[in-house]
Amino acid sequence: MKQIMAVNTTDFNYLRQLVYHHSAVVLHSDKTYLAELHLQPIAESAGFASISEMIAYLKTQPFDGLHIQTVEALVTNETSFFRDIYPFEALKQFVLPELSKKRAVERSLNIWCAACSHGQEPYSIAMIIREHFPMLASWSVRLIASDFSSKVLARARKGRYNQLEIKRGLPKTLRDKYFQKLENEWQIHEHIRQMVEFHQINIVQSWSSLPKIDIVFLRNILIYFDMETKKALLKKVKQQLRPDGYLFLGSGETTINLDNSFERIQFDKSICYRLHDNS
Ligand SMILES: C[S@@+](CC[C@H](N)C(=O)[O-])C[C@H]1O[C@@H](n2cnc3c(N)ncnc32)[C@H](O)[C@@H]1O
Repeated sequence: MKQIMAVNTTDFNYLRQLVYHHSAVVLHSDKTYLAELHLQPIAESAGFASISEMIAYLKTQPFDGLHIQTVEALVTNETSFFRDIYPFEALKQFVLPELSKKRAVERSLNIWCAACSHGQEPYSIAMIIREHFPMLASWSVRLIASDFSSKVLARARKGRYNQLEIKRGLPKTLRDKYFQKLENEWQIHEHIRQMVEFHQINIVQSWSSLPKIDIVFLRNILIYFDMETKKALLKKVKQQLRPDGYLFLGSGETTINLDNSFERIQFDKSICYRLHDNS
C-alpha cells in the first residue's frame, strides 16, 4: 500500500500563509488531510521524496509555477451545473425578465461569474439565456466568467465534462440538447461555449478589466475568506454593480453584518441582493 506523505504543523502553517497571500482563502487547521492528499502527487511528480522536502524547496524560491500548483491544489473547486437550483430559477423567472425590460433601449447586459471554477455555473446561465431569452441573441450580452486559477480556467474553456460532472444538476433534456457525447466525456456545443468569455482574475486584486455589471454571481467563495476580505469584496461589488443590478451569493453566504448597502430580496426560494436606493 502507498504511504501517505504527512504534513507537520510548521509546514501546514507555511501552506496557510502561501494560500492566504495569493488567494485570500483561509485554510483551517482541520484541512491538513487535504494538504496531504492533494500535495502528494505534486511533490512526487516534481521529484521530491516528501511534501516536507517540497515545502523546504518552495520556501527558498521566488513565487513561481510550483507555488501556483500548490496554492491551486489547496483551494476548493467544488461546483456543479445549476448548483442549488433556486438562484437559477430566480434568474430565469424574475431577474432576467426585469433587466431585459429595463435595458430594452440600450440592448446590452453584462453578467459576471466571479469564481467560475470548471465553468458549470456560467454555462448554466448561458443555457438559460439560450432556452428562455431568444431575443437576447441580438443584444450585446457579455457573460464573463473568471477565476484566479489558470488550471480550472483551461478546463472551463474546453467545456468538456466527465460522466460524474454531467450528472450533477444538469437535466437530461439540456444534456441531450446542448452536449455531444464523446467516448467518456460530454462536450458542450460550440454555440454555448462561445457565449462565455473566460478571464483570469484574482478577485482580491484589480477588476479594472471589467465593465459595469448587471448581474454578479459571487457564489461559494466568500465562505473561504475572512471578515476583512469579505467586506472589502462587497465594497468592490458595490462599485462594479449597476445601481439596479443583482448580486447572487452562495446558499451559506450573506451580505448581512458585512455591508449595509445591500438589500436582501427573496424570489420564491431564492435570496439575492440589490443595492439600496440611497447607496
Ligand atoms: C467552490 S468554487 C465555487 C464555484 C462556483 N462559483 C460555484 O458556486 O459552484 C470556488 C472557486 O473560487 C476560486 N478562487 C479561490 N480564490 C480565488 C480568488 N482569490 N480569486 C478568484 N478565484 C478564486 C477557486 O479557484 C474555485 O474555482
